[in-house]
Amino acid sequence: MDIMVVGGGGREHAIISALKKSAGVDIIYCLPGNGGIAADAVCVDIGAKDIDGMVKFAVEKKVGLAVVAPDDPLVLGAVDALEAAGIPCFGPEKKAAIIEGSKVFSKDLMKKYGIPTAAYEVFTDMDAALAYVKTAPVPTVVKADGLALGKGVVIAETHEEAEEAVRSMMEDRVFGESGARVVIEEFLEGPEVSVLSFTDGKAVVPMLSSMDHKRAHDGDTGLNTGGMGTVAPNPYYTDEIAKTCMDSIFLPTMKAMNAEGRTFRGCLYFGLMLTSKGPKVIEYNCRFGDPETQVVLPLLESDLVDIMFATRNGTLAETEVKFSKGSACCVILASEGYPQKYEKGFEITLPEKLPADTQVFVAGAKRENGRLLTNGGRVLGVTATAEDLPAAIDKAYAAVPLVHFDHSFYRKDIGQRALKAYKKEK
Ligand code: AMP
Ligand code: GLY
Repeated sequence: MDIMVVGGGGREHAIISALKKSAGVDIIYCLPGNGGIAADAVCVDIGAKDIDGMVKFAVEKKVGLAVVAPDDPLVLGAVDALEAAGIPCFGPEKKAAIIEGSKVFSKDLMKKYGIPTAAYEVFTDMDAALAYVKTAPVPTVVKADGLALGKGVVIAETHEEAEEAVRSMMEDRVFGESGARVVIEEFLEGPEVSVLSFTDGKAVVPMLSSMDHKRAHDGDTGLNTGGMGTVAPNPYYTDEIAKTCMDSIFLPTMKAMNAEGRTFRGCLYFGLMLTSKGPKVIEYNCRFGDPETQVVLPLLESDLVDIMFATRNGTLAETEVKFSKGSACCVILASEGYPQKYEKGFEITLPEKLPADTQVFVAGAKRENGRLLTNGGRVLGVTATAEDLPAAIDKAYAAVPLVHFDHSFYRKDIGQRALKAYKKEK
């Protein structure tokens, strides 16, 4: 069977690497992929938002499964269009992808069904929003309603910062129409946990938990990024907390989506904060997280193709989803200046052979005249798996110097916060 993966980042590279382990897989196409993914899949120059293009291609190639990985095409209805053309898909339909596509939708869903989340207010009128933030307790969290490349969230430390955030979203429309409505919510504190889950609308099967590192620099300083590294599993996420999350968040969310006539089939991502009052939802994503996927899927022992079909067909409860007992660590190498201005076009050198249990997932690169060149902010992720968390961190960092491009930077402390919780647990 041939498979089509839509997207072109480190997440898609990790998905392709996991799909390749499945026995029945022949060709894997990646639309559009990137210069690094080209080593593992046939990259096709069709953009991830070009729905007509991807449908035409999938039909022409008679692909047996399409995996739509990024949020944009899911929210635009790529799965609906592919399924209508007879292509089996992994990923939610448009009406379910709204759980990520609109923060107002997801906040209202949680309120209606009693799912724990930060208290919030929604505004479509800027003056009302400005009046509200003048007296709201700080820090205050201001969020654009729609998709904003993961950048539509401002944690305002002062009332002035909150007002500025409201103006930039609602008046200047820095995130375009995504800022037509804003959510202003309570600031929550505690360790963050990402839980990716498979759900077919009948069962929710969580994958291993993970911890992202969103800030650009060591010690959680600098600007928010798409994620500078991850570890899995997340030691803060104990069995007891996992049970609480299943009962108070995961199953209620699945049932709420069913009750709304928006059954979610695919990967539902729960971004959680473990507050002193229990776990609360920070955000839902309608897709695999990045770079979470770069640590979670290397630890998957079961067949990903089988799981994806089961998720689509409603047979997840009868399907094995097993993870190894070990840990993984991913360190992202980025272009100097990211997440702001950075240069591209530097040659990337990778070793002929990577050490055992180490993989490089390429996110922002292109191939030109046989050379691999940087072509994005987050360039690649170095992932290592090992028997436990300390060993995974050591192994990932030992492999980082084997990869090179000029003007790169990476965080030196991926996993250090997790390690503290890990040691306490031991
Ligand atoms: P989001 O795009 O919703 O994931 O938000 C990005 C990041 O902002 C999250 O990973 C959190 O670190 C932070 N954040 C979002 N909402 C809140 C909140 N209510 N309280 C504290 N931090 C938040
Ligand atoms: N790493 C966060 C996300 O994928 O949204």
